[in-house]
Amino acid sequence: MLEVRGLTKTFGSITAVDGIDMQVAAGAIHGLIGPNGSGKSTTMNLISGTYRPTAGQVLLNGAAIGGQPAFRVARMGVVRTFQLTRVYGQLSLLEAVRIGALAGNGAPWNPRLWRPFRHDHPATEAAHDALRRMGLGPHADRNAGSLPSGMRRILSIATALAASPRVLLLDEPLAGLNASEKAEVADRIQQLRQDGLTILLVEHDVRSIMRLSDRITVINFGKVIATGTPAEIGRNEAVITAYLGDRRPAHAAG
Ligand SMILES: Nc1ncnc2c1ncn2[C@@H]1O[C@H](COP(=O)(O)OP(=O)(O)O)[C@@H](O)[C@H]1O
Ligand SMILES: [Mg+2]
Repeated sequence: MLEVRGLTKTFGSITAVDGIDMQVAAGAIHGLIGPNGSGKSTTMNLISGTYRPTAGQVLLNGAAIGGQPAFRVARMGVVRTFQLTRVYGQLSLLEAVRIGALAGNGAPWNPRLWRPFRHDHPATEAAHDALRRMGLGPHADRNAGSLPSGMRRILSIATALAASPRVLLLDEPLAGLNASEKAEVADRIQQLRQDGLTILLVEHDVRSIMRLSDRITVINFGKVIATGTPAEIGRNEAVITAYLGDRRPAHAAG
């Protein structure tokens, strides 16, 4: 469904992503892990169209999407979550998520998006639907800035969801959350997979990524060092040396 071939990105003399090959199957959660600075976020940004690849291809169902601007990539169904900035904090949940829906429609950014809007607009419908799917329906009118961090994270996923993605890119959705918030966000991610979404997931929480992912690609210094099922990755010597070390959850050890 989503494939990258020889994906490469240099920043000056730094090769952040160095010839990555990866195949993400339709309907799967595909984990992408590696040490800090190994090129995970850059890979996500290359796939979402935030960055242009220096070399290599991004293919969605065989069609090349690499190098296209993010709004066009989003319209083709590949959407990443955004950090919810302070600006979002002044909006209701519905307004915040509606911006994601408008982005998915390919609407250019426009100050009018921030103003009150007609409730029968298709973007508003999409926003309500995304909030409902993420269990935030009852909070639609609440101020986004007032949310606890777990719900805020779920809101950022709902914002991406409102753009009607086929492929969702999640960069460290569990970072900074406590154990119960992590469990809640992980449940929501799993539910999206059950709904048929394809998910590329970058996450440092090894226990969660092992549990959530169907397959995992491990990168180090911008290169793939292993791809496999969580069980295969958990016992791969190169991966243990480069990344897992004693991060391995007890049940995957040995
Ligand atoms: N916009 C940028 N300009 C210059 N260097 C960057 C930029 N983005 C990332 N890098 C560098 O690319 C490498 C990979 O970074 P990143 O993809 O953020 O890693 P990860 O997400 O795995 O921690 C790092 O060395 C980082 O400093
Ligand atoms: Mg990163």
